[in-house]
Amino acid sequence: TIDQKVNTLLKKMTIEEKIGQLNQYTGDNSATGPITINPNKQAEIKGGLVGSMLNVIGTTYTRKYQELAMQSRLKIPMLFGQDVIHGYKTTFPIPLAEAASWDLQAIELAARVAATEASASGIHWTFAPMVDIGRDPRWGRVMEGAGEDTYLGSKIAYARVKGFQGSKLGDLNSVMACVKHFAAYGAATGGRDYNSVDMSERMLFETYLPPFKAALDAGAATFMNSFNDLNGIPATGNVYLQRDILKGKWNFQGFVVSDWGSIGEMVAHGYAKDNKQAALAAITAGSDMDMESNAYRYNLADLVKENKVSIDLIDDAVRRILRKKFELGLFDDPYRYSDAKRAEKALNDPENRVAAREMAKKSIVLLKNENETLPLSKNLKTIAFIGPMVKEYKANMGFWAVELPEVDYNKWIVSQWDGFQNKVGKNTKLLYAKGCEVEGDNKSGFAEAVAIAQQADVVVLSIGERHDMSGEAKSRSDLHLPGVQEDLVKAIAATGKPVVVLINAGRPLIFNWTADNVPAVVYTWWLGTEAGNAIADVLFGDYNPSGKLPMTFPREVGQVPIYYNHFSTGRPPADENAKGYVSSYIDLKNSPKFPFGYGLSYTKFNYSGLKLSSVKMKRDEAIKVSFQLSNVGKVAGEEVVQLYLKDKFGSVVRPVLELKDFQKVKLNVGESKTIEFTIDKEKLSFYNNKLEWGPEAGDFELMIGTSSADSKLKSDFELVD
Ligand code: IFM
Repeated sequence: TIDQKVNTLLKKMTIEEKIGQLNQYTGDNSATGPITINPNKQAEIKGGLVGSMLNVIGTTYTRKYQELAMQSRLKIPMLFGQDVIHGYKTTFPIPLAEAASWDLQAIELAARVAATEASASGIHWTFAPMVDIGRDPRWGRVMEGAGEDTYLGSKIAYARVKGFQGSKLGDLNSVMACVKHFAAYGAATGGRDYNSVDMSERMLFETYLPPFKAALDAGAATFMNSFNDLNGIPATGNVYLQRDILKGKWNFQGFVVSDWGSIGEMVAHGYAKDNKQAALAAITAGSDMDMESNAYRYNLADLVKENKVSIDLIDDAVRRILRKKFELGLFDDPYRYSDAKRAEKALNDPENRVAAREMAKKSIVLLKNENETLPLSKNLKTIAFIGPMVKEYKANMGFWAVELPEVDYNKWIVSQWDGFQNKVGKNTKLLYAKGCEVEGDNKSGFAEAVAIAQQADVVVLSIGERHDMSGEAKSRSDLHLPGVQEDLVKAIAATGKPVVVLINAGRPLIFNWTADNVPAVVYTWWLGTEAGNAIADVLFGDYNPSGKLPMTFPREVGQVPIYYNHFSTGRPPADENAKGYVSSYIDLKNSPKFPFGYGLSYTKFNYSGLKLSSVKMKRDEAIKVSFQLSNVGKVAGEEVVQLYLKDKFGSVVRPVLELKDFQKVKLNVGESKTIEFTIDKEKLSFYNNKLEWGPEAGDFELMIGTSSADSKLKSDFELVD
């Protein structure tokens, strides 16, 4: 068995070789933290002192480094890890955008395609999915997760792990998933990356941990811990998180990698005196592999000699890592993932682009569409396409896109301009002006933009954040559209022409003037390789938009953190405008600009005929809920029907509503379907004050609707003992 093989190998290993397995170095590029100095990297690999590398990609490069590992005494192959976050060569929409599709199959497929390309290119392991709950759009990393909701986030976490890992590790087109960042990284105070987190255990268990557990249930091979401290203890050195919860209660058998330098950073946190103490804290807490801190490499052997770290602890970490190397088949053939022929085929498979275009279309959210401004006719005479994103290829890549040195992304990516050209017929004239840059206060391009707008039947304006304005270390204190872009919208709108605004971004932005004054607004996020085609598909009606927001969009930054499933408080305002001694702002409504779950379609859906199999539910029984969904509009479309529950009172206060189920339903014009949901005790359960999971008898409200703020059908029911 694999365990026997691991034990046999372990017996042959010196302490240095064991520690080597726990040591991970970066390759020569893509640093997201300080690179520790290891001038003898190559010699160290040959000496069996490096177990894994990151940022080494491509068959040639991975082969070159693996050949060095094969010169080591025990010939233990290295693991190559990489941030394959939303595609490898074929870039998919950023994860937050994919989450807006609420399409679990498409999301799984996107991860599958990424795994197929990456694994053919020498990669064994992706540092994804990121499953951190994101309730604060100031935090730049919300772009990498599935948004604010625990239920949706858990479903997506599961789908992504399945997609990356395929049916089993060791299949050639699978990569190991790495669920990150354990834990609570998304709750960084003030939305500032790497910042401290302080939260109740109940909040941790109820809101932040379930997506991790879902990823584990999907079979995730590895976890990454996080930069933040949680209630005063850095996650990397946190025994409670890693030993008690992850490896204890949850019985996780894979291994945990630190985040970049996060072991060493415990010194800056003020949690460890030096790297040696940091190494002691990390290995004790259950961090198995040290990414780029050099803390294990230079301190663990001494700590063992001094009897501060037992060899059993080291052996356990080494075993976990070796097991994965065996499972991946690397001991049979260390180069099995670095196959140039396979890479050539996998990286140029046209099916991958098809999947990327499908995913991109499904990720787009239609926020506003007055006077049926959209879809656009393909026979318009003149369209003015304006804005800093129109011809910018990278605008569509988004943060965390893998940039392969040999690929000319200007040719590989379909820009928005290319997408329009592919779509419109010869009789349509496309005019272009940049108008302004994303940032800065230069308005000198406005005049040209206004001039071409005046010649057009319709103006499409593409604005937003630059691809590197959301992501790691990209927190923003101001969420308004950057620079003078909203002024450009005003100038164009003043021409009186119909205007469609596309907003490209990695997080919810604030664009109140645009939302209030422009007839059509489309949130396009950052959509990847096929962005231009997908946007054109939606704008010209070849695809009816079906995306729904996975995060709440605030009116102003002062509302942040903002999320739909908040508690009621003892003084909830009676309505939007209630002021006085109620929980509200004196200068702003409480409600968001756009709520969680919101998104329009070109068609209309009607909800009717709600039936519950019973309005009294016994603890171990379930009730069936059904209703009719009909497409009463003029085109076929998909609706994400959302089921929310409210536990009206409990031994601890409960959210005003919580997503508990959803279905994405496709209906032709005039078609109706009966939709069914089941409510069982799991859906009614929560953590009480003793952290016990279960439902409490009492009254519940059920809401079914098209967003968290638009319930179409409601009913009360009761859980009885
Ligand atoms: O995987 C990432 C992590 O999410 C943030 N720090 C760097 C790691 C490796 O690139």
